[in-house]
Amino acid sequence: MTSTTTRDRYRPRLHYTPARNWINDPNGLVFHRGVYHLFYQHNPFGTDWGNMSWGHATSPDLQSWTEQPVAIRCDESESIFSGSAVVDESNTSGLGDGVAPPMVAVYTSAYGPSSPRPGVQAQSLAYSLDEGQTWTKYAGNPVLDRGSANFRDPKVFRYEGPAGAYWVMVAVEAEEQRVLLYKSANLIDWEFLSDFRMAAPGIGVWECPDLFELPVDGEPGRTAWVLVVSTNPGGVAGGSGTRYFLGEFDGVRFAEIPGSRSWLDWGRDYYAAVSFNGLPAPDAGPARRVMIGWMNNWDYAAATPTDAWRSAMSLPRELALRNLDGRLRLIQRPIVPPSSDPTQAPRVVLPRGEACRVRVGALPGGSFGVRFGSGDGDAAILAVDAAAREVRLDRTSSGLVDFHEGFASVERAPLDTVDGRVELDVFIDACSLEVFVQGGLATITDLVFPRGEQLEIEVFADSEATVDVFEVGRL
Ligand code: FRU
Repeated sequence: MTSTTTRDRYRPRLHYTPARNWINDPNGLVFHRGVYHLFYQHNPFGTDWGNMSWGHATSPDLQSWTEQPVAIRCDESESIFSGSAVVDESNTSGLGDGVAPPMVAVYTSAYGPSSPRPGVQAQSLAYSLDEGQTWTKYAGNPVLDRGSANFRDPKVFRYEGPAGAYWVMVAVEAEEQRVLLYKSANLIDWEFLSDFRMAAPGIGVWECPDLFELPVDGEPGRTAWVLVVSTNPGGVAGGSGTRYFLGEFDGVRFAEIPGSRSWLDWGRDYYAAVSFNGLPAPDAGPARRVMIGWMNNWDYAAATPTDAWRSAMSLPRELALRNLDGRLRLIQRPIVPPSSDPTQAPRVVLPRGEACRVRVGALPGGSFGVRFGSGDGDAAILAVDAAAREVRLDRTSSGLVDFHEGFASVERAPLDTVDGRVELDVFIDACSLEVFVQGGLATITDLVFPRGEQLEIEVFADSEATVDVFEVGRL
């Protein structure tokens, strides 16, 4: 299937990539009957954006993925833009056959010039009665049309709370930088609930919203809601990026907790991240939340130097809320296989392309970090700067950088002191670095395209730093 030509050297081992062709946003993440379904924006015919359709992959464990046939295809009248999927257990939509509950995809119809709604973006349904293998478009599409050219990316979830039990859709008026909420009893008839915007909006369009509830400090009785919004441009590191707001959702309106907003990732390459529907809820609390993002940036996504495929998904991340110094914080932890043969040597040299986990721990104070070299003098440098209270990832000399003028960059994430320690957990996989700072209080996700034939991983520290954990394991 996958030949390792010299140009295919950047294909990751752990991160999902399609065998061939372009992907962008994860869509329709849903867990059903022991299977994780990952749908995604996909061009079935080429390595550039276009012919937008929903590709499909499945996994038993979020770690190994099997590519499935293209799920929902574009046609002359519409492109299939981003959206979500639910399993309609009690057949509220009537789209089931009385045997299996329908899997219902809610997607944006981006209508083409030859359609009856040229230039309009509206929300449509498709349903599957065979676990996502084959799909039928609903005959009454679209189900929600505002006549807008920028109304897209519906995330639908089941709300059950004080206000009742119904479906909620979170979508965007992208150019207005506005999130819109709707409700429905049957996924077909939608009623406007409320909207959300920032008092002082930044630049860019808003895309791919998500809204979900999480326990605080693991206690099912205490919860808060997370509203996720992707912005392009306007991301914290330049180009596209993903932000979040914490607050309350009463079934109608999202009310932000002042001072709680932040960035889901401080790197360049984590966009359009959305969470799974259908995960089990431990202890009668809110469901587990696992997110996946598109590991690229609209600034240069069309130019990334891979061959038969273009773009990978991020590692899946499990989310939690934690109270830290009186402030509610979002925590992300990667879902990865255990690492094998961990070594504590301060310098490790492996063949290029290995997937590795690197843990570094230190007492606060001084500067230290890890150099990810490729044997030819180039390296990506991850550094903790205690004085500046930040973690930096510098990819300016990490290998191929000049395929786009905006690619070479230095990313910065804030460094909170937690429990008197500083800890980094880093995942490298052929063409990416994902850094989890302080147990996932901040993350930095960046693509890198090393040119050399090795993967050198080396710790460094100044005289004021006390590094007492350094471990490299293969994944
Ligand atoms: C985000 C996005 C979405 C849209 C899709 C089209 O990356 O622009 O707003 O639905 O990509 O591929």
